[in-house]
Amino acid sequence: MSFTIAIDGPAAAGKGTLSKAVAAHFGFAHLDTGLLYRAVGAKTLLGVEPIEAALALTAEDLNAQGLRTQDVAQAASRVAVIAEVRAALVDFQRAFAQRAGGAVLDGRDIGTVICPDAAVKLFVTASAQVRAERRFLELLAKGDPCTREDVLADVKARDARDMERVEAPLKPADDAVLIDTSQMSIEDAALRAIAVVEARKP
Ligand code: CDP
Repeated sequence: MSFTIAIDGPAAAGKGTLSKAVAAHFGFAHLDTGLLYRAVGAKTLLGVEPIEAALALTAEDLNAQGLRTQDVAQAASRVAVIAEVRAALVDFQRAFAQRAGGAVLDGRDIGTVICPDAAVKLFVTASAQVRAERRFLELLAKGDPCTREDVLADVKARDARDMERVEAPLKPADDAVLIDTSQMSIEDAALRAIAVVEARKP
């Protein structure tokens, strides 16, 4: 039996950590859909045409080095506005969501477009300052030579592009549970998410 959990939210909201914690708690599979867009974006930085890159995407591409850099994040949000790029990635995401044993998918349009019938929808957010600070510390720990100002600018630019695009814009589904992590650790947010899922499980 499938059981899908959709976790959406703006850039660096902590969706990754939270999704992994929820998936581990329930023994569900997890798909970071941002990685699909990052992998396509990374290919465009090498000169590949975006739609071609999306159509030819392989599982191996998701393990490529450097997908977490800010340049790739920006490239991802630029290819993510293209309808044909999004369309090329739909089947893979929906098949993943339907897998037996449960699945957690995190992204921007999971609860609204990819899995509108998901059993649980969460929208995880925090102020841009808090999100940028968390991402800055993450990148710093990886040895990425970034500045706080750069990271805040990246987060704001991607949020604007993700929210304003015509195709699958970033917004909470009408039936999503909002989790604002501005004043909460990601660990506490994960506990809250687990409680929401627990209450909806058959
Ligand atoms: O980890 P972070 O929140 O910074 O970004 P991500 O989830 O890896 O997503 C990178 C970019 O891919 C986003 O800024 C979006 O433009 C795009 N994306 C999307 O359009 N739809 C998704 N389901 C996931 C990501």
